[in-house]
Amino acid sequence: MTKSSAFGKIILFGEHAVVYGRPALAVPVRQVYVDVDVRDSDRKGIWIDARAVKLHAELDTLPANHPIGATINSLFFLARVSPYPNLEIKISSTIPVASGLGSGAAVTIALTRALATHLRYPMEDADVNAFVYEIEKIHHGTPSGIDNTVITYARPVYFVKGQPIETFKVGQPFTFVIADTGVPAPTNESVGAVRQLWLEDNPRLEAVFDKIGEVSFAARCAIEAGLSEWLGELMNKNHALLQELTVSSPELDRLVETARQAGARGAKLSGGGRGGNMIALVDSENAETVSLALKQAGAKHTIITPIF
Ligand code: MEV
Repeated sequence: MTKSSAFGKIILFGEHAVVYGRPALAVPVRQVYVDVDVRDSDRKGIWIDARAVKLHAELDTLPANHPIGATINSLFFLARVSPYPNLEIKISSTIPVASGLGSGAAVTIALTRALATHLRYPMEDADVNAFVYEIEKIHHGTPSGIDNTVITYARPVYFVKGQPIETFKVGQPFTFVIADTGVPAPTNESVGAVRQLWLEDNPRLEAVFDKIGEVSFAARCAIEAGLSEWLGELMNKNHALLQELTVSSPELDRLVETARQAGARGAKLSGGGRGGNMIALVDSENAETVSLALKQAGAKHTIITPIF
């Protein structure tokens, strides 16, 4: 049997604008993860059991564009596996689906690594990252590549599309509370909506993307210098810019406002938006208070995560 795991992620700054070449910051979230087991089997075929997405099926019965089927078929093609072996693949996940925590990329990464190891097909991190980026295009059309990069390397990334990966230092530990609106929001829909706005009003959208890019750059400086007050202000600014892109929602705005009122230094939506998760920067001693306030305001689930 071969096993592999992958963590979830949050985007700290720069979502959406990153698709258009502006910088963004993301970090792994180790409290949520995907586990994949691959084992040889006596039963004919390749059987996939992925309870989190209610999938129990044989590979050949999946539609051609199914990301799990596409991952397996593409990897077999790359590794020149023929005929296909009989396998059982079990995928379990604690990452909520369509919530901005990178569940799609994490499944693909853990599955790719488990299968490649099982087949004794060598893949470096850079190979996994490039392969998963292609599969991400099935999930959401025009991905920037930030999700697969931060999850593949499992470390903080300062990401600019098409450029070599850069990590960043954390000047002092920061604490974030992540809260789930409970509203599933597929990333391809919000990315598609922003694309539509960009086609309709290119100069205005480009100006918003520029401002988000400036916020991301400043946020990297604030994190490296360990300046939480400045970082909180930048989160609030980034949330306002995401509202201009129409990717917030009443549920996200309510949780963002609740976090600020409960003493967070700043708060914003995280990921594709229109649902999914928001994040709040808190002083560590205030984390439980903010988490409780968020739950009372309707958050389905919260995670307190340090960044160091
Ligand atoms: C999704 O986690 C982040 C987005 O910027 C999309 C992308 O970068 O591919 C919304």
